[in-house]
This record gives sequence, C-alpha cells and structure tokens, in this order.
Amino acid sequence: MKTFAVILFLITAGVAPAQTPSTNTSPTVSTPYLQNPTADGMTVCFLAQAAEQVRVAWGVDTGAASAEAIPTEVAANGTVIPGTPWTMWKTRLTGLRPGGAYQYQVRYLLRFGGKDGTTTWYRFRAMDPQATTARFVVFNDLHHQDRTLAALMRFVNPDDYEFTVLLGDCLEAYPNETELFRAWRAYLDILNAAEKPCLFIRGNHDTRQSFANRLAYLVDSPSLSVAQPWGEDQWQFTLRAGPVWFLAMDTGEDENGVQTDPRTAYKHPEFWRDYRRRQAEWLKTLLATEAGSGTLWHLFLSHIPLYNNNEWDSPSSRESWEPILRDANLDLMLAGHDHEWKLLPKKTGGRPPWPVLIGGGLSPKKGSEEGTVMLVTADATTLRIRLLAASDGRELTEFKKTLTTNP
Ligand SMILES: [Fe+2]
Repeated sequence: MKTFAVILFLITAGVAPAQTPSTNTSPTVSTPYLQNPTADGMTVCFLAQAAEQVRVAWGVDTGAASAEAIPTEVAANGTVIPGTPWTMWKTRLTGLRPGGAYQYQVRYLLRFGGKDGTTTWYRFRAMDPQATTARFVVFNDLHHQDRTLAALMRFVNPDDYEFTVLLGDCLEAYPNETELFRAWRAYLDILNAAEKPCLFIRGNHDTRQSFANRLAYLVDSPSLSVAQPWGEDQWQFTLRAGPVWFLAMDTGEDENGVQTDPRTAYKHPEFWRDYRRRQAEWLKTLLATEAGSGTLWHLFLSHIPLYNNNEWDSPSSRESWEPILRDANLDLMLAGHDHEWKLLPKKTGGRPPWPVLIGGGLSPKKGSEEGTVMLVTADATTLRIRLLAASDGRELTEFKKTLTTNP
C-alpha cells in the first residue's frame, strides 16, 4: 500500500517510475520523446501545458542515475502550439559519438505554484552508421487507435527495435484535437519513445484534418520547420542505420476519385501534384550526391504505395519520382494506406520495378483485415521483414533478401 502511494505520488508529480517503457499520466506534462536521430545528434521533445525554465540534463551513460554523473544542462526552446494549451519544448543534443550511450533527464518549473519538476533518467544510443546490424519496427494506419498499437506491441520485444516508424495515417484529430494529443502521448509511451526515437511519416488522413497544418510542431525532422508555409513543408528525409539506408517520402493527399467524383474536391489534386514535383527536385539533388552509397540495403518508405494491385492512389507520386528512383538501387518499398496487407514481387522490366510490402489495417469494408507490424532486421548478408498480425501475432508474410557472392 505504501509502495503504491509512493508510485502514485511520483506519477501525479509528473515523474515516471524508473521502468521501461515509461508512462506518464500527468494531464499537463508528457513523457519526453526522441526525434531526428543522427550519428552525432538527438532531439529531446517535451510537451507541457504549464511549465517554464525547461532544460535537459544529459551526458554519457555511466550506468549511474544521478545528477553528479551528468555534466551538462541545456535550455530547451519552447514554442506554443497555436490553438492548443500545449507548448513544445525541444532540445537538440549535439556532439554525440556514433553508437554512444547517453542518459538524460528533463527538468522544469511548474508555472502555477512554482514547483520544480523532473522526469526520471532515460537512456538512448546515438545512431551508428558503422553498425553491422539494424533492427526497427514499422506501423501504419493506426488512425487514432492506440489500442491497436498496444495489441501489436505484445509481439514486439524491446530487443527487436532500436527505433520505430509510424508510416502514415497514425495521427488523426478524431473526434477532436484533445483526442489527437491523447493518442500521440499514448503511442509514445507504448513505443518507449523516451529511449528509442519514433520517426513520423505523414499519410493522407494526416494532411486533411483540422490539425494538419500544425502537425510539424509535434515532430523534429531534418528538413522540416514550423515556419514553412503549407505546401512547402519538407516532411521527406533519409536515415542511415547500420547497413540500412532509407528514404522516406511524403505522398500527401490521395488522388482517388479526383477526376470523376465532385465529392473529392477537398483533395486539391493540383496542389499536391506541385508538392510532389518539388519533392522530385529534392530527390534529384539528393541522389546526385550518391546518398546511400556505402550501405548494403536501400529501403523506400511512403504512406501511399507507389505501386499496388487494386488502388493506385498516388499516380503523380509515381510519375514524378519513379524515373529518379531508378538511380537509388532500392531493395524494397514499404507502405500502408490500403488497409489490406500484401507483398508484391518485383516485375523485371515492368511494374512494380521493386518489391513492395504493404502493411494492413482495420477496415470494416474489407472485413477480416487488421493492424500489422513490420519487424525489420538487417545485417551484412540478409534483409528480412516479418509482418505480424495484431490479433495473435501470427506471421502473415515474410520478405527476405540475401546477398549472394558469385564463386
Ligand atoms: Fe491512407
């Protein structure tokens, strides 16, 4: 009873118990979460409603969870998220050693009552381009269902991933923006994003909701800024994780029905075609620098598949990007959107020119479909992705590519 009371006090005070994954039930302060991981940097994000003087104490992970072991305290930059009671506090930790282990704690002052607050100590590793292995997990089309994510995570062990990817349509403001913040915080806690970065790739539903033009406040991504005007936002990025290089592109709104059905007028097809053309220019520049060279496995991630066997919902993405992607030496494309999982083999000389793995999702229209998780592992010889089902963790399909050496 006494232990319970202590834990309850810590939670109420905004201090998560020292356990993994972390949880924070405070209505006004989030658990911190990691964004924009690189070999030498990491962004700590912290959402708060009534905090000031937010800073991050951090240093090399010595195994001791104490202030004495932490030499550096850095002030966070706060940005009020318009139309919400939340402020996003971001702190970029720099000068990290590739693959190095670090620990951090967020400290703040509660505006009302002037009480000091601290989170527990969290640990993370910087990305390591020289690592011989990589492990990460990919989710798609959760919409705002953290229950689906929790169901899937029953079949994912902490050792199965170094970071996570939300592959679109995972953050809808349905039925209201309060629910969006609740779902976002729930995702981050379930995924242990305080210690393992969570990468966000935008889906078509993410672009059409009331919160769409403020989503950038919630993430930190290499080319993205909240100052970018709508339509000029730069959600696309690349990431190097050991032997894996991946390219994440933003397919924006879908083009389903835009030519024939007046009810789809809100989809603004011309606007999104221009948006994809601008990304094509970015892609050309990127690939001209031989990005991804020196990595064994090249993945392409987008919410809407560029190739499918039933709905081709983003033809202008394919038209704008396919000719450029032929220089990217891709091994596999990962996507969601369809809510029906499938693995499409590559067609030599035809489409798709690369294999495509599409994750599943809840779909009353399609009957039996359910949420899925992709478990990605890569090493010096093999790229493997297992697709598991939310209901019982059964393996729905597997993609495996092995390097062969010619005698
Ligand atoms: Fe979608």
